Amino acid sequence: MTAIADPVARSSGPAHRTGVAGLGAAAVGAAGVLVLVVRPALPLVLLAGSVVLLAVADLTWRLHRQQTAARVLEAQRLDLFSQRQTTADELEVATRMLRARAETMTSVIDAVTEQSIIGTDRDGLVRVWNPGAERMLGLPRADVVRTRSIIDFHAPEELDTEELDAEEPDAGGGTPFATLVRVAREQGSDVRDWTYLTADGRRLTVSVAITPRTDDDGEQTGWNFVGTDMTEVRATERLKDQFVSLISHELRTPLSSILGYLELVLDDPEQPLTGEQRQYLGTVERNAQRLLRLVGDLLFTAQVDAGRFTLQPAQVDLAGIVRSAEETARVTATARGVAMSVDVPDGGLVVSGDALRLGQACDNLVSNAVKFTPAGGRVALRLQTAWRNADGALVDVPTAGATPVALLSVSDTGVGIPNSEQGRLFTSFFRASTARRNAVPGVGLGLTITKAITTAHGGTLDVVSAEGRGTTFALALPLPA
Ligand SMILES: Nc1ncnc2c1ncn2[C@@H]1O[C@H](COP(=O)(O)OP(=O)(O)OP(=O)(O)O)[C@@H](O)[C@H]1O
Ligand SMILES: [Mg+2]
Repeated sequence: MTAIADPVARSSGPAHRTGVAGLGAAAVGAAGVLVLVVRPALPLVLLAGSVVLLAVADLTWRLHRQQTAARVLEAQRLDLFSQRQTTADELEVATRMLRARAETMTSVIDAVTEQSIIGTDRDGLVRVWNPGAERMLGLPRADVVRTRSIIDFHAPEELDTEELDAEEPDAGGGTPFATLVRVAREQGSDVRDWTYLTADGRRLTVSVAITPRTDDDGEQTGWNFVGTDMTEVRATERLKDQFVSLISHELRTPLSSILGYLELVLDDPEQPLTGEQRQYLGTVERNAQRLLRLVGDLLFTAQVDAGRFTLQPAQVDLAGIVRSAEETARVTATARGVAMSVDVPDGGLVVSGDALRLGQACDNLVSNAVKFTPAGGRVALRLQTAWRNADGALVDVPTAGATPVALLSVSDTGVGIPNSEQGRLFTSFFRASTARRNAVPGVGLGLTITKAITTAHGGTLDVVSAEGRGTTFALALPLPA
C-alpha cells in the first residue's frame, strides 16, 4: 500500500508548485539567500518577501482575469457586428420589397386609362392623378398634383355647403370638400354620380367611388376618388325611359278606345251578335285588355326607375283586397284545375296605403301562384297579424322590441324557382328557367312592380321556393304599434 502511495505523493508535489505556488517557492528561495546575507533583520526580510510574493500572485491573477474579460468582450463585439450585418441585410430586403410594391401600385394606377384615379390629402389637395384622370379631365399630372384641389373639377352647385352647416356645424367645417366626402366619412365609402368639369368646359356625369386612405397605423392620410364616365350611359337610360313612357302613353289611348267600342258592340241590344261573332270579339277584348295591362306595367316600371312614382295613401282593408284578388284568379284557377283557399281575419286587417297599388301587388302574387301551378295543385292565401323582430325576421309570437305587421302569404304547390335564380326575381324582365321551360306566358314585370309597391309602403317582400315543390311569397306591411 505505501509503495503505491509514495509515488503519488511525490508526483503530486511538483504539480502543486507550478503557477503561483511555483513562483512563491522561488521567492522563498530568494528570501533564504537574503537571510544568509542580512542575518540580523531576518524576520523583517521574511515578511517583506512574503508581501512581494503575495503582490506578484495578485497581479498575476488580475492579469489572468483581464485577459479572460478581453476575450469575452471580443466575442461580444464579433457577435454584435454580425447582428448589425443581419439587420442591415433585412432592412435592405424590406426596402427593396417596399420599393417593388410602390412600383407595382404606380404601374397599376398608370395602366388604368378608362377610369380616373385621383388621390388627395385630407383637405382635397391632389396627390395622385392617373392617366385616366388626365384623359377624362384634360389636364396633365404636372399641372394638377400638389397645386389643385379636387373641388376645382366638381360642379359647384352639387357641393352646396348649407345643408352641412345646419346639420353638423362641427364636422370639418361646412366646406365644399367636406360636403363631397361627407357620406364616405360617415359610412366608410360612397358611390354615386357627380358632375365633373373638364379643362375644355364639358360637363361629365361620373360615377365616383370615394374612400378614405389610411397609413399602416390606421391614421387617415387622405381620400381616393375612382371615377367612371357615365355620361353616355345615363343619357341612353334617360332616352330609354322617355321612349317607354312615350310609347306607353301613345298605346294606351288607342287601346282604351278599342276597348270602349268593343264594349258598345258586345252590349248593343238593338244589334245582337251571333254566337261566333261574340266569341271572336271576346278574344279581341281579352287581348286588348292584356295589352293595356302590359302598357300599364311598362309605364309604371319606368316611373319607378325614374323615382317618379307616388302613392295615394288611405286606410285600406287588406282582407278585402285579398278576397277580390282570389275572385279575379278563381276563374283561371278553376279552368286549370288548381284549388284555391283563402284565410283572412273576420274583422279585416287595416293598413295605411294606396288601395289601387296594393291591389295590383296582391293580384300579381296570386296570378303568379295560379299560373305557375300545374293542374291538381293548390294555392293558399293567408292574411294575419305577425311581428317583425329587432333583427328583421318575421315571427308569429311577439318578442321584446318586435313591431306588428300585416302579413300576406301566397303559397302554391307549383313549379318553384331554382335557388340560384331567386336573387334576380325582382329585376325587370327576369323570368326563371322553370317559367321558360314550362312555356308559361308573361314578360317578367309583375314582381318588380310588386316589390316597388311594397317598398314604397315601408314593407318587405320575401320568397321561399323549392324547384318542383312550390313557392311562398310573404308580403309584410307595417301596422300601427
Ligand atoms: N309562384 C311562382 N312560382 C314559380 N315561379 C314564379 C312564381 N312567381 C314568380 N315566379 C318566377 O318569377 C318570374 C318573374 O315573375 P313576374 O311576375 O315578374 O313575371 P311574369 O309573371 O313572368 O310576367 P308578368 O307578371 O309581367 O306578366 C316569373 O317569370 C317566374 O319565373
Ligand atoms: Mg307575374
